[in-house]
Amino acid sequence: MTRPHPHIAAMAPYALADLAAPPGVPLLSLSQNESLCPPSPAAVAAAAETLGQGALYPDPDWTDLRRAIAAVHGIDAGGILCGAGSLDLIGCLMRAYAGPGRAVLAPAHAYPFFATAAAMAGACCDAAPETGGVVHVAALLEAQRADTAVVCVANPGNPTGTRIPNAEIRALRAGLRDDVLLIVDEAYGEFADHLEPSPFDMVEAGNTVMLRTLSKAYGLAGFRVGWGLFPAAIGAEVRKVMNPNNIGAVAQAAAAAAMRDQAYMRATCAQTAQAREAAVARLERIGLACLPGFTNFVLIDIGTAARAARADAYLRARGIFLRAQGGAGLPHALRMTLAGPADLGRALEALAAWQEEEEDRP
Ligand SMILES: Cc1ncc(COP(=O)(O)O)c(C=O)c1O
Repeated sequence: MTRPHPHIAAMAPYALADLAAPPGVPLLSLSQNESLCPPSPAAVAAAAETLGQGALYPDPDWTDLRRAIAAVHGIDAGGILCGAGSLDLIGCLMRAYAGPGRAVLAPAHAYPFFATAAAMAGACCDAAPETGGVVHVAALLEAQRADTAVVCVANPGNPTGTRIPNAEIRALRAGLRDDVLLIVDEAYGEFADHLEPSPFDMVEAGNTVMLRTLSKAYGLAGFRVGWGLFPAAIGAEVRKVMNPNNIGAVAQAAAAAAMRDQAYMRATCAQTAQAREAAVARLERIGLACLPGFTNFVLIDIGTAARAARADAYLRARGIFLRAQGGAGLPHALRMTLAGPADLGRALEALAAWQEEEEDRP
């Protein structure tokens, strides 16, 4: 009888969105924080041009993609590592730095994959309380234990959408022990870049990694491309646990072209911000509040876990899939990915209809 490692056997599989629409009902998925725009035409053209090279292994050093990222962000290409999505990089970091006796710490309503990746590495994941869906640096520092090896924060957060100002991220780093690795996951960073430039300089101290992805603002979720800025010593360790040739040539070409089409990405962010304002205003009129977010989704407060479950079931029966947030410790909330006016209108009308029916409940 084959037996997995006990910590793998004890794990629950990571739950992706369940998208089983009732038969015959058109599916509207607003559950995975995908972009409301298709990829940049330049990315699609670059991908198409690369298809003929499919017999060859891809560039294991992502040379052109790294060059494009470095030019856009004004950072050193040598410090960049790329992954098959930022999930890949989070997993590699956990394998290299967390494990039995080396705990991970994250905010209470953090991106659930942090805990999953910790569990994959055999590490436990501690949670520090948040205040109203906002990361609380003092609480994180208080939760730091002697065996804390890795601290993860997403900025802006998922599923909260809220943002930690740079000054607080720096205060978090300053308050952590020097031997603790801080992972700042900026998967939604592009949607908030207009507020403050990303503190990439924090990487210079040697114990902080900044991650980004092309899955959100660049609309390339299906290509699976993430990247990070790593201190040289951490990058060298991560390379050891990374699958070589982790990003296919077509995805690398698409990502480099998307990165060089900053105007398209910024237009996507502007459209996303408009959709967010429209959604928040409509939800307010329906009587539902959202956290003040900076991402391509909104976190809707439905009031109680029972009400959220009823709203979710009502929407699903109509083919509209939001994302329940019990797994992130927010069972009273539903997360809705922003979309174009027609799709957003369909979801918000259904939510308004549910709210009306709910008010009539005895
Ligand atoms: C905070 C955060 N980090 C990382 C990811 C993973 O993104 P990807 O693997 O597509 O780059 C997501 C995806 O939703 C996310 O929300």
